[in-house]
Amino acid sequence: MLLLLIPGAAGAADLDRGRELAARWCANCHVAERTAPTGRADGLATLQAIAANPQTTAASLRGVLSAPHGRMPDLSIGAKDQDDLIAYILSLRPN
Ligand code: HEC
Repeated sequence: MLLLLIPGAAGAADLDRGRELAARWCANCHVAERTAPTGRADGLATLQAIAANPQTTAASLRGVLSAPHGRMPDLSIGAKDQDDLIAYILSLRPN
């Protein structure tokens, strides 16, 4: 991928990118936007609720992202994408 060749493109986790990835990969099943008024009728956790859970850590999220869960397709999410997604999800944590 061309992006990887641009110096400085890699590095710190990118929240905006994480948000895009969540919208693309997670929003089919989990409400992924901070501003969503409610969760889904089927009760599947919103990403915000996942972030608010004190048991959620970067490491636990990495575990979820590294293997398919529920009906989640095997996305084979790369390390950088995982970092961005994790940074985004943890940014939803209430202060
Ligand atoms: C096809 C539906 C689907 C997709 C897509 C999906 N998930 Fe899930 N997710 C589930 C289901 C169903 C559960 C409930 C637990 C289980 O079945 O393992 C779950 C549980 C979770 C949990 C654990 C929640 C808890 O309270 O323990 C996390 C974290 C999670 N998902 C994150 C994500 C992230 C991040 C993405 C996007 C990269 C994603 N999921 C994409 C269906 C999905």
